[in-house]
Amino acid sequence: MTDRELMTMARDASGNAYVPYSHFAVGAAIECDDGSVYTGCNIENAALGSTICAERTACVKAVSEGHTKFLRIAIYADSQGYAYPCGACRQFLSEFSYDMEVLICKEDGRYVSYKLSELLPGKFDF
Ligand code: THU
Repeated sequence: MTDRELMTMARDASGNAYVPYSHFAVGAAIECDDGSVYTGCNIENAALGSTICAERTACVKAVSEGHTKFLRIAIYADSQGYAYPCGACRQFLSEFSYDMEVLICKEDGRYVSYKLSELLPGKFDF
C-alpha cells in the first residue's frame, strides 16, 4: 500500500467523525505489520474529556483484533494546517511501535511524515 492510499483511507474515515462540538473531523488509518489496515475517526462526547481521537480509535480497533505491531499511521484533517497528533495519542501509539511512521495530511493533499520517536522523544515508560 502506498502512503497516498493509506492517507485516502484516513480521509474517508474522517467522514464518519462524530463531532457535534468542535466540528473538526479527523480520520486515521493504521497499518499493521501483516499489511492489514484499521481506520478510525474522532468521536466526541458531551462530557468533553471522554472524547476519543481518531488515532486512538484506529489503534484500539487494531489491538482489539489482535494486532500490536504497526508500520505506519496516516492522519487526515480537513484543515489548512497540519493536524499533528496530540500528546496523549503519541504516548498511546508509542506503547506498541515507537518506530512507526506518522503521515500527517491536510486538505490540499500535502503531507509530512515523521517517525513517532521523533514526535515523542523520551516517551514515558517504566
Ligand atoms: N483530535 C483528534 O482526533 N486527534 C488528535 O490527535 C487531536 C485532536 C480531535 C479530538 C476532538 O474531537 C477534535 O479533534 C478537536 O480537538
